[in-house]
Amino acid sequence: MSVSPDPCVIVLFGASGDLAARKLIPSLYEMSVAGALPAQVCVLGVSRSAMTDDTWREHLESWAKKHAKGFEPEAWEKFATRLFYFSGSATEQDVYPALSERIEALSRHFECRGNILFYLSVAPTLYEPIIRCLDDSGLILEGRRWCSLDKDAMPWQRIIVEKPFGHDLESAATLNRVLGRAFEEDAIYRIDHYLGKDLVQNLLVLRFANTIFEPLWNHQYVDHVQITAAEQVGVDDRVSFYDQTGALSDMSQSHLLQVLALVAMEPPTSMSAHHIRQEKIKIIDAIEPPDDITECAVFGQYGGDGDHPAYHELEGVAPGSTTETFAAIGLHFDNWRWADTPFYLRTGKRMATKRTEIVIRFKRPATNLFRHIEPFASGGTRPPNRFIISIAPDEGVSMRFEGKVPGAGIKLDSVTMDFDYAKRFKAEPLEAYGPLLLDAMRGDQTLFKHRYEVEGAWKAVMPFMGEEGKKLREGTQANYTPGSWGPKEADEMLARDGRVWHNPE
Ligand code: BG6
Repeated sequence: MSVSPDPCVIVLFGASGDLAARKLIPSLYEMSVAGALPAQVCVLGVSRSAMTDDTWREHLESWAKKHAKGFEPEAWEKFATRLFYFSGSATEQDVYPALSERIEALSRHFECRGNILFYLSVAPTLYEPIIRCLDDSGLILEGRRWCSLDKDAMPWQRIIVEKPFGHDLESAATLNRVLGRAFEEDAIYRIDHYLGKDLVQNLLVLRFANTIFEPLWNHQYVDHVQITAAEQVGVDDRVSFYDQTGALSDMSQSHLLQVLALVAMEPPTSMSAHHIRQEKIKIIDAIEPPDDITECAVFGQYGGDGDHPAYHELEGVAPGSTTETFAAIGLHFDNWRWADTPFYLRTGKRMATKRTEIVIRFKRPATNLFRHIEPFASGGTRPPNRFIISIAPDEGVSMRFEGKVPGAGIKLDSVTMDFDYAKRFKAEPLEAYGPLLLDAMRGDQTLFKHRYEVEGAWKAVMPFMGEEGKKLREGTQANYTPGSWGPKEADEMLARDGRVWHNPE
């Protein structure tokens, strides 16, 4: 693995799409302004739309103005000279000779040493045909196998695959097999932009660069964990994708289970991609299939208000669609560290606020030495210790514990100790895609998912997707008010376990 990103041609399939314009190109621009993108890197966008290099650049510029931090026309002009466009259908083999020629010409011009980073940012139905075409195109060189003599001296070809990675366990396994026929596992980068978020990566630092958390990080001290990704936005113009997908597949199977893995895994042997991913695979594998999903899952669909239509009223939503825009599930692990400590995962659209966070709720002290004072004396309680890791929009860590109120006698009150990233480091959160793209150019797979993680995560959510899951989704149309924290059944689910959701103001 190199320390700095290797030169390469990034071949971006899906160049006229939303992700390229909103995230990928703006984040590459941010990286170039930060001086992190080597001069020998260029982008060749591939899509069916008829565009020239110039019209693609103009299209991207209008998006970068809105989405890239610190946009400056001069810096953009310079960056845009590295953007090129190829119009053609990537699922048809006969475009590949011309595409290969264009890649080779760019590689020579930018001195990319023959390295190619493919990026699949297309509709998931196109993944397999494109991978098959790539395999047949001769663009992926043979000889990087484990037995080759000096594989590092050869040009590399890597592929970044966007989510959704399959739509269930079987389709994900098939996609993995198709990828595996064309690329080695160490050339496959299954991206999850949550792993590019600083506060998600900070989980590793928090847990393993400190001594004070790890001894408490287990079922003896932790009552339960909540992982929430609430969004205020609705489904809006993504209906055709979303109505086939739903919150569980869109968010819980991917982003939330990745966060869960980093919270729950064992310490890795080292910070290498291999060791970290081994631990994530292990913990995802330890998720227990639920006995009865009606006890540990709630689905919902947002209703309408004066300003916005309900989900089921959106154009393109199938009549009677039971696709969930809200999902709350409770998971248990069958392992020594977390036995009997549930992890609750919750996500939804059109909720009260945009908030992604992890809440670690600790158990109460083993014995209460303050039982003689209020509120305990009259049967009341005090809030238990709680640790919150805020991932977005605020980035920070907050610890709640009990303190003595100043003055005579003993009276307890809750206090918090807050660590605010923005205040401490004076840095704005970066778009997660930029650093992840650089990692792929470096050959660092730490923040990308191994095939077993993806398949394990599908295995974990499959029980919520079968016949039982379908039944649970019936009658959920408009069962939560936009701007709320989801259906009341989600509160009831936690109440049955004697717990409550953390719903910040
Ligand atoms: C995407 C989902 O992967 O993540 C979207 O497809 C969701 O539905 C988005 O809105 C949320 O990402 P973030 O970074 O805004 O939490």
